[in-house]
Amino acid sequence: MGTRHAAGGGATVLAGVGSSVPVHVVTNDDLAARLDTSDEWIRSRTGIVTRHVVAPGVATSDLAVEAGGHALKSAGRENVDVVIVATTTPDRQCPATAPAVAARLGLGHVPAFDVNAVCSGFVYGLATAAGMLGSGLFGSALLIGADTFSTILDHDDRSTAFLFGDGAGAVVLRAGEPDEPGALLALDMGADGDLEDLIIVPDGGARNPDGPADRFAMQGQAVYRQAVARMTETTKVVLEKVGWTPEDVDLFVGHQANQRILDAVAGRLGLPLDRVYSNLDRVGNTAAASIPLALSDAVGEGRLDTGDKVALAAFGGGATWGGAALTWPELRAQ
Ligand code: ACO
Repeated sequence: MGTRHAAGGGATVLAGVGSSVPVHVVTNDDLAARLDTSDEWIRSRTGIVTRHVVAPGVATSDLAVEAGGHALKSAGRENVDVVIVATTTPDRQCPATAPAVAARLGLGHVPAFDVNAVCSGFVYGLATAAGMLGSGLFGSALLIGADTFSTILDHDDRSTAFLFGDGAGAVVLRAGEPDEPGALLALDMGADGDLEDLIIVPDGGARNPDGPADRFAMQGQAVYRQAVARMTETTKVVLEKVGWTPEDVDLFVGHQANQRILDAVAGRLGLPLDRVYSNLDRVGNTAAASIPLALSDAVGEGRLDTGDKVALAAFGGGATWGGAALTWPELRAQ
């Protein structure tokens, strides 16, 4: 799906970015103190060194409100026309988290809803917002990726407990022109529901409301292979749509799942490693928050300049995947 020629002629332009992580940091050594694992094993298998974890009572919406507020400030706006929260860890099963986030941000009675595409949720949310802005339905959107996987992990499962951290990242989007810095130039998405067992919370939903397996489970090696293949493929698709070669890309911001996955995707694409952004050593895999949190951190580190060519790629539960190509606007992280 390309956004350049969306009905109504409008392009979607990134206008603000912000993020939030909880204060509490859990190190690999903290995990090794209570699980049969080690700092060396986790670092060498994933590149992760620390992750942020919410305190009891802190929920996804709390991080989403903070990140959303920073993104609004970065865009210099006090209102938007629609709020979308991408999350797999909503505050409650019902209702969605986005309306409460919109209300707490003082955004009035704008439409607000959640999108769940697990770790691809931010890219799916971008496509949802771009459709609404490109059609002329709305003029602006606040898109927040927020997850607290610490609330669904089995903390005794050494095969998953070390991978995830909590966090939120947000962007403000507005209708604009395709030649403006910040324009979203191409999108690609896909899903394969035959792979739903790869990343799953088996019980607790409508399929088995009272079942015992209400914690996150993952088939690590199969996820690894799928993530490398799909993130590579979706990036190739968006680069082709927009007419960029891998050498044209100033910064590749992939879903921060595992450094080995990012390195493998970069290798297959022929992307120089210094153009591959990574913050997962500090934050781990923050699911739907991963890409916008990485964008916000990259701005904070001076890694993104106005007009830079940026490629995004994600893979997550479902299975779902998606990519995007955009140029970078003139803005500061908050
Ligand atoms: N500490 C020490 N040893 C461990 C640990 C641990 N935490 N976990 C597993 N092991 C052991 C296993 O028991 C196994 O031992 P054995 O050889 O005696 O049987 C050995 O280490 C190797 O286990 P593997 O599962 O083969 O380890 P692998 O090299 O595949 O690494 C990992 C596991 C890191 C999970 C990898 O498969 C991976 O990164 N997969 C992708 C996961 C991912 O990115 N998920 C996020 C996407 S999904 C989403 O974002 C929602």
